[in-house]
Amino acid sequence: MNTPSDTDVLAAKDSDQGNAVDRMLVLEMVRVTEAAAVAAAQLIGRGDEKAADAAAVEAMRRAFDNLYMDGTVVIGEGERDEAPMLYIGEKVGGAPGKGPKIDIALDPLEGTTITAKAGPNALAVLAAAEEGCLLNAPDVYMDKLAVGPGLPDDIIDLAKTPTENVTAVAKAKGVKPSELIICVLDRPRHAAMIAELRGIGCGVVLIGDGDVAGVIAVTDPDTNIDMYMGQGGAPEGVLAAAALRCVGGQFNGRLVFRNDDEKARAKKWGITDLNRIYKLEELASGDCIFAATGVTSGSLLEGVKRRRGASGATIMTTDSVVMRASSGTVRWIKGEHRIA
Ligand code: FBP
Repeated sequence: MNTPSDTDVLAAKDSDQGNAVDRMLVLEMVRVTEAAAVAAAQLIGRGDEKAADAAAVEAMRRAFDNLYMDGTVVIGEGERDEAPMLYIGEKVGGAPGKGPKIDIALDPLEGTTITAKAGPNALAVLAAAEEGCLLNAPDVYMDKLAVGPGLPDDIIDLAKTPTENVTAVAKAKGVKPSELIICVLDRPRHAAMIAELRGIGCGVVLIGDGDVAGVIAVTDPDTNIDMYMGQGGAPEGVLAAAALRCVGGQFNGRLVFRNDDEKARAKKWGITDLNRIYKLEELASGDCIFAATGVTSGSLLEGVKRRRGASGATIMTTDSVVMRASSGTVRWIKGEHRIA
């Protein structure tokens, strides 16, 4: 896969002086998610979640070396003693001490089980922002509630019941609550919420995994999904919030602690109010970037596909999106990668 030339990198530095998240870096982030997706794709449907994740992690780690930045992983594969690469606090990027200081939240393979089973919506995903702009969320659960753009501010509130939130959103959209479609992770812990939603006539789209794509689906009218509700990973919540910062929409997240160990983790990352409801800007602030490449096809992106080129070389095609909050620009990028 191509890497930026020194001239490209220097030109980008000169043109965006003073802005840590420079324009060149936005496009470069796609190379990183592409590399992870192509690596993970070799293991689609092989029933081996760990191998697929490891392939994505290694490829993403290598791809970061080509970026002119002084990056720090703030949400990654776990803590230093539990992850060999891309652990929280690890420095990434090719210009430590020199390049712009960037915080990175990443999930090289969002949907390990999906990939192992060749299901829909597995992604290689990351968010990047100026230092201190992404919530350093511990690896615990998060209650999530999201709607797309174009609704009155603060229309959703995690402190309220599912029925109250649906009623408010339906009123703002000028439809009946029974006309709304809600996306929820298919888990036993959501049984009561699903029953409540169906009880007021809502359609519930159950997804097996992959709530980053699930949350982002609320921003795309083609999915027909009006709201996202339910509990999933907190790191995935920050990643989805970064995407919504770029394309619009509202998000509430509240960390969920199952034991004292998880509470201690939160304290370690500076979280003192354990019941706080975080809004979008409190999860991802400033000028942030969201980049994702499809591993398997889904509501957001096509998955990686393999074909044989004219010269007999193997060509992997990728489908990616990269967004930037400060400009609101969304780029859809198709890639063709000749694999040796
Ligand atoms: P992994 O890629 O780590 O397997 O995460 C997939 C996922 O479905 C996330 O999208 C979601 O936030 C989380 O798992 C939900 O966790 P759980 O499977 O424990 O309910």
